[in-house]
Amino acid sequence: MTPEQFIEFARVLPESLLLVSSDGQLLATNQPAADMLGLRRQQMRQKTLFEFVTESANDVVKYLQACSSSRAMVIGSLTLRKNDGQTLICRSQGAVIQPWSPESSALILLRLENRTLATGNFIILNQKIDELAKEVQRRKQAEEALKKMNQELEIRVEERTAALQETLNELKLTQTQLIQAEKMSSLGQMVAGIAHEINNPVSFIHGNLHHAHEYTQDLLKLVQIYQHLCPNTPPEIQEHIEEIDLDFLIQDITQLFHSMQVGTERIQEIVKSLRNFSRLDEAELKQVNIHEGIDNTLMILEHRLQARHEYPEIKIIKKYSQLPNVTCYPGQLNQVFMNIIVNAIDALEASAVNGQWSEVNPQATNNPQIEIKTEVIDEKWIMVSIADNGLGINEEFHSKLFDPFFTTKDVGKGTGLGLFISYQIIVEKHQGQISCFSVPKKGAEFIIRIPVAQSHEI
Ligand SMILES: Nc1ncnc2c1ncn2[C@@H]1O[C@H](COP(=O)(O)OP(=O)(O)O)[C@@H](O)[C@H]1O
Ligand SMILES: [Mg+2]
Repeated sequence: MTPEQFIEFARVLPESLLLVSSDGQLLATNQPAADMLGLRRQQMRQKTLFEFVTESANDVVKYLQACSSSRAMVIGSLTLRKNDGQTLICRSQGAVIQPWSPESSALILLRLENRTLATGNFIILNQKIDELAKEVQRRKQAEEALKKMNQELEIRVEERTAALQETLNELKLTQTQLIQAEKMSSLGQMVAGIAHEINNPVSFIHGNLHHAHEYTQDLLKLVQIYQHLCPNTPPEIQEHIEEIDLDFLIQDITQLFHSMQVGTERIQEIVKSLRNFSRLDEAELKQVNIHEGIDNTLMILEHRLQARHEYPEIKIIKKYSQLPNVTCYPGQLNQVFMNIIVNAIDALEASAVNGQWSEVNPQATNNPQIEIKTEVIDEKWIMVSIADNGLGINEEFHSKLFDPFFTTKDVGKGTGLGLFISYQIIVEKHQGQISCFSVPKKGAEFIIRIPVAQSHEI
């Protein structure tokens, strides 16, 4: 590169450039380099580099020679002596652009950079890098925070979903309870209504039976007197006497009236039980005789206790103690007795189907039975135990017995609500306890403990 070419090339560049020979001759400069020194370019012509720097000529030549013998840029430091007498420390980068030859020394292009400015730039750069690093850090932290928030959100959503599921289950349960309660209450009303309707005509029949019997007796007496006074009855009458078998009729009619009497009494008892059982006063706490409740329930279930086809009779063994009247919701308590006794009957029938008591197995040691025992625990508590000798309950089911919808019965036969409702009535409504003991194949016993008085009634 000739000095002219250099000038042409360096003119447009904003940085300070000098073209020097390896022995320090200043061959050309561009305007920024002249500005840096505070000189005009003409003033620098025919000069050496040594005249403008504070470093010794020796040092400068050494640096230039290093530049001329290296293929890469050689970085050095030059302190410029400015026109106004001040000095300016510069960073220099030197590169050989025409190597040494026997005819001429090497040509070196020097790029000068104000050290203070460079340092300033460097500091700014550093600051920028710092800021950038901080920004990166901030973004990383933000990303972390976002991730964490996301995770927390996911956990919260999961928790929320679980809570909602639980609420849904509770609602479902409440709904079933409401439906059940509604069913029970409408059933109760219907039973009470029917009982009331039957009661009148039955009382009417029952009340008149006595008179009907008396009148019949009177008429028979009259026939007897007539027979006695007129032994020679006309043949038509005699014929009729034989036709109706008068002697048998006289004998049978008393028995007939007796049976009718027993029948209506039984209807009246059933009606009474039905009315008692479906007590519509269940919203109120009442002092009642627990035994009456159990007896009423048994009366209603009588048809399932009698022997039928494949089922033998179920014997009821009552072991009642002297109990005080108990303050309770009688309708609900009867519901519990009903649920437990029905379960016992179901278990006994299942045993019968399994052959335990069928004719195929006449050696069965004990007959199907339900033992109902009542006891006073102390002055505050009483106990009712209902035990059957049916098929019993497997160990694995014990923890589930009182769960809603737990049933081992066929679809349509079991709802799995009986014990659940019983638990609610005994434990939540009456602050009592209900527990179950069972040995599989031997039977099951349900024990109910309830307080004689309800604390919230006082
Ligand atoms: N006395 C009993 N003997 C054997 N199993 C019983 C007895 N009582 C209750 N169980 C068991 O408990 C389950 C739940 O009873 P329950 O809540 O009354 O519902 P359900 O009678 O509709 O099945 C029954 O399906 C049965 O497996
Ligand atoms: Mg049941």
